[in-house]
Amino acid sequence: MTPDFNDVHVPVLAEEVVALLGGSGDTLDPSGLIVDATLGAGGHSASLLECFPRIRVIGTDQDPSILECARKRLEPHGDRVRLVQCRISELSRLLRKLRTERPVGFLFDFGASSLQLDTPSRGFSFQEDGPLDMRMDPCRVRTAADVVNTWDEEDLADLFYHEGGEKRSRPIAAEIVRCRSRAAFHRTGALAELVVRIVGRTGKIHPATRVFQALRRAVNEEGEELLAGLETAEHWLADGGVLAAISFHSGEDREVKHFLREGVARDCWRLEPKKPIQASREEQRKNPRARSAILRGAVRVRGEDECE
Ligand SMILES: C[S@@+](CC[C@H](N)C(=O)[O-])C[C@H]1O[C@@H](n2cnc3c(N)ncnc32)[C@H](O)[C@@H]1O
Repeated sequence: MTPDFNDVHVPVLAEEVVALLGGSGDTLDPSGLIVDATLGAGGHSASLLECFPRIRVIGTDQDPSILECARKRLEPHGDRVRLVQCRISELSRLLRKLRTERPVGFLFDFGASSLQLDTPSRGFSFQEDGPLDMRMDPCRVRTAADVVNTWDEEDLADLFYHEGGEKRSRPIAAEIVRCRSRAAFHRTGALAELVVRIVGRTGKIHPATRVFQALRRAVNEEGEELLAGLETAEHWLADGGVLAAISFHSGEDREVKHFLREGVARDCWRLEPKKPIQASREEQRKNPRARSAILRGAVRVRGEDECE
């Protein structure tokens, strides 16, 4: 039976992404190339390929198992799609190697996929026990257990505070250091329990959400990867080509906003739309992940000296 991919990862703001990449720039080149740099299960790419019969897609993801899922989903589109396992920071090298033309669109849907978050053996889950791993690319050397067991107390506290927004970062880090001197952390369950013990069960979200988010960001170097992605889009996009970037927390969105604002000042980008887009109430109701999603769009403007 063909899997219903929307059951495993529902793409957020799909209509808005299609509208942005398909028309709000200086019109889509009918034979243009779109780079989906965080392909995931391929939901956004599938919509783009269906809506615009003459575009082609290069889809990349650092996670080989997710890429396999997308391969099955995008099979009906044949050679209009090329899938490659690759980190965002390796994308520029890949495009050079493939000798592609300048893409007319770049899509980034940052963060992790539900397929990763909801599989306990991948180690992202605080709801179900699993190995404390969190690597999206299995070739990465550092796991979440390495961070938890080797970083010093102050660095852990700073990580939880800055990358997760955890206000109780200092007592959590102190308790981790105290406990790991007796036995190292290897399981998500033990870490989640510790955080619940310190933070208590208040509020709507699970108390370990912020610490787990911070660890995931450190393990996968998400901040560095985001910046590398935006720089790659600026370097490669065709004149009038469109960037669509979806972030899932305020720190991530701040980075995108700052990059684009500075790019507008350099006359490299035009914000389009001017304000970020959020999911409709209806979408938020159907898909809770969409509640924190923020989509920003911008058109690449190349002055005469930049156009070949
Ligand atoms: C939110 S999901 C994308 C979902 C996708 N848009 C869809 O419609 O199914 C993010 C994906 O980006 C991938 N990813 C995250 N950071 C990456 C990076 N630095 N390089 C390559 N892929 C990355 C993850 O492995 C994950 O599959």
